[in-house]
Amino acid sequence: MRFFIDTANLEEIRRAKAYGLIDGVTTNPSLFAREKEDWRTLAQKICAEVEGPVSLEVVGLTAAEMVREARELVQFGPNVVVKIPMTMEGLAAVRELTGMGIDTNVTLVFSPLQALLAAKAGASYVSPFVGRVDDVGAEGMALVEQIVTIFTNYGFSTQTLVASVRSPMHILQSALLGADVATIPFNVLEKLASHPLTDKGLDAFLADWKKTPGAGA
Ligand code: G3P
Repeated sequence: MRFFIDTANLEEIRRAKAYGLIDGVTTNPSLFAREKEDWRTLAQKICAEVEGPVSLEVVGLTAAEMVREARELVQFGPNVVVKIPMTMEGLAAVRELTGMGIDTNVTLVFSPLQALLAAKAGASYVSPFVGRVDDVGAEGMALVEQIVTIFTNYGFSTQTLVASVRSPMHILQSALLGADVATIPFNVLEKLASHPLTDKGLDAFLADWKKTPGAGA
């Protein structure tokens, strides 16, 4: 299972990279809006910082606009994956970009049928937004389960990229379901590593070590 980091913040990307925890990056317009730097400069820096795929999103609404933007986005690095919204125009853009050999990530996926359409269009990734599904009282992980089943049934090469992750439980359930990738905010990434019994155990070991004859000498 691959972990991407869901951020446009270079500092977070560098920290996660230093821990050896990330295989790629996903961004969206809202994440770029939180940053101070010009988005083009920042996108270029992100693409240079990581070896793995970097999802950059288009904002056009027609297939023609999306394809035009995608051509600009792929100039930022060889690892760019163009993020396309799950609309009919988006599907047309995905089909065209796939034909051009450009990787795509279909975003804002909230139903298994949307994921099926994206896979049929040739998307490299689909991004079910599990947290936002949970927010409206439905079960985000049930969506992931259905997508994984459909892709397995038909042997699609499209990868399931679990997005809108809010907690470690989303990651555990994604792993149990066999999702290909989860894109994780930095704060959730930190939570994955921590356990109160690890902290308690480490404190006890260090306290005992201070009493050990010859230790620290
Ligand atoms: O990158 C898209 C996605 O992960 C958004 O997450 O928390 O805004 O629902 P969130």
